[in-house]
Amino acid sequence: MIVYDRKTRTFFLSGKSFSCVLWVHPAGYLCNLHFGGRVGEDDLTYFDPSARGLSFSPVPPDTDSEFSLDLSCNEYGSFGQGDFRSPSVLIVRENGERASRFQYVSHKIYQGAPNLGVLPAARGGETLAVTVKDVLSDVGIVLNYTLYEDSDVLVRNAEIVNRGNSPVTLLRAYSFCLDLAAGEYGVLRLHGRHNMERTPEIAPLGHGSVKIGSARGASSHQMNPFLALVGKNAGEDGGECVGVELLYSGSWTLEAEKSQTGSVRVCGGINDLNFSWKLHTGERFVTPQVAVCYSDRGLGEMSRSFADFLRGHVLPEKYVYAPRPVLVNNWEATYFGFDREKLCALADEAAPLGIDTLVLDDGWFGKREDDFTGLGDWFVNEKKLAGGLDPVISHCKERGMKFGIWFEPEMISEDSDLYRAHPDWAIGRADVPRCKSRHQYVLDMTRGDVTDHIFARMSDILSRHEISYVKWDMNRHITEFYSSRLPAERQGEFSHRYMLGVYGLIRRLQEAFPNVFFEGCSGGGGRFDGGMLSFFPQFWTSDDTDAYERAKIQWGTSYGYPLSAMSCHVSSCPNHQTGRTTPFFTRGAVASLGATGYELDLGKLSAEEKAQVKEQIENYHEIEALILRGDLYRIADPYEENCFCVAVVSKDKSRAYVVGMRIHAMPGDFDRRIRLKGLCPEKEYTVKELGRTLRGDTLMNAGLLLPRLGDFGGWVWHLQEKS
Ligand code: GLA
Repeated sequence: MIVYDRKTRTFFLSGKSFSCVLWVHPAGYLCNLHFGGRVGEDDLTYFDPSARGLSFSPVPPDTDSEFSLDLSCNEYGSFGQGDFRSPSVLIVRENGERASRFQYVSHKIYQGAPNLGVLPAARGGETLAVTVKDVLSDVGIVLNYTLYEDSDVLVRNAEIVNRGNSPVTLLRAYSFCLDLAAGEYGVLRLHGRHNMERTPEIAPLGHGSVKIGSARGASSHQMNPFLALVGKNAGEDGGECVGVELLYSGSWTLEAEKSQTGSVRVCGGINDLNFSWKLHTGERFVTPQVAVCYSDRGLGEMSRSFADFLRGHVLPEKYVYAPRPVLVNNWEATYFGFDREKLCALADEAAPLGIDTLVLDDGWFGKREDDFTGLGDWFVNEKKLAGGLDPVISHCKERGMKFGIWFEPEMISEDSDLYRAHPDWAIGRADVPRCKSRHQYVLDMTRGDVTDHIFARMSDILSRHEISYVKWDMNRHITEFYSSRLPAERQGEFSHRYMLGVYGLIRRLQEAFPNVFFEGCSGGGGRFDGGMLSFFPQFWTSDDTDAYERAKIQWGTSYGYPLSAMSCHVSSCPNHQTGRTTPFFTRGAVASLGATGYELDLGKLSAEEKAQVKEQIENYHEIEALILRGDLYRIADPYEENCFCVAVVSKDKSRAYVVGMRIHAMPGDFDRRIRLKGLCPEKEYTVKELGRTLRGDTLMNAGLLLPRLGDFGGWVWHLQEKS
């Protein structure tokens, strides 16, 4: 609900259990009076910092009080007018001046979300759009706030328009700034690397700032575009937290800064390293959206709010709650060494086990025998696949299975026909040696001719064959940020224009092929972000399929994203990434905590393992509604304990699915109790595996015994309310 109080010039934005109160200071500055738990529509202007003047805090020329932007909580930090914290925008005018003074002009409140063009955008809600103007440069900024009555997430972004007579250059254009009153916080971030994405780490926020981000042209494995402030007394199940996540997939930054007074600023958006954007008169720059989440019930509730928000407003509506394909992917089964017979044999094995889709991964096109060649040549390699794709597709169809295929649309190999024809289509200068990564270059997606070509090639494959699923991969980061098509003064626009090109291409393909299910991937989970999830209902969480490592990665990922967005496969042991052997049951249990699938040579499984696959898939169908719609409760943290355990509880609390793993067997460790969470205390639940019926409060307060299991032994409990 958005309410504007004319008398005090205050906006009250209230979601399910939070409020954000904005105030137009008499001198025109847009300040924040409160962000936190819900408040009434009371006059909060007693928080006006004017009366609290501090030496060395400059006063802007048009105020007659002691008001200083240095001390106020500001809605979009500016530069050069006394707010010395990290600004949200940095505008250079023709004469080189950089100071900006933003003042309120007008506002409007409307149903629905702002139109962001090709950028990912959350659906629905109610929007407050406040227009402020830089009185020094005539640049206008529309600050959008979209909120939803059923959610504790507030979506923000900024639209910057040059209303002056001469061009300006943006050196920074963040999506938001959130200034919180003085408080003690820790900063949770999700760092990592390839095969080890989204490792949670919390460190106290002292004075000064913590800046995280990616300058890789992709949101990255190394740091996820997510950050949470964790209140001093907050933890998993209680206390105040504020989470932010960007709906953006390119280079990004998030900053948390504790000021001289102890107030805390969180801001961020597109990474300003190597960024500039020229705005001629009348031109507009739209920043990506950020989702800001408030929780007064700890990180657990924050995660559930993000999950509900992403499912309800970001993930593709058509697919978000629909049953997902249960697939077998041939990558770890064959790598590049497949042919028609091997793929058909995989389908023969898969169909009777209940697998419904065969996905043909890398290597089906051009002369791609290894990862040195062929990217860009999206023509079927008939030498490898005699007769093309159709015989394999028909073979699948005859067995009641669908067919999916892998693309890496943004890439080009030096050894490819495409590169030989268009060496200038790769990013960087064609006459200067460029960095390779996985032996490949990146296509210049800022160019319309390049995206048109890729669209044409992919459309050709998708329209000529019965393909129900596409895996969209991206296996390297960008180095030489340069396009031969952009003028010198626009090279700083390259990185963001690249993302706009990618988003535009995905959009176009999805409009042309609305019945194709797209899964995202980037060397595993290298672009696992709210931007990609607005197109791809699920994302390959990590190339690491080791059940123990995966449990940790999925745990970390769950801080900001729903289970149904995580694609999780059972693979063979010794595991290809870690060499570890884990029980087949555990692998299935961990992979059931997401969009499940298989990534191994089913023909090499024993009869007993095949029977387990069948059971795992039957179980998956039984619990899929929980994975797609349920609430996740993190119970035992595998980073801190000798155990991993989570529960997924249905919204009506009538069902729950618990998955756990004892990490190492320990002698005498027989009295570890697992206390469940999220159940209804008064309801009685039957725990299928234990043959017991217990009340919710008993299960949550006394708990159940951690099963006696060996190393990496997994277990599941199905709970059903007693009728
Ligand atoms: C990436 C993906 C894998 C697989 C390979 C193919 O690493 O994450 O799943 O598709 O590429 O080259």
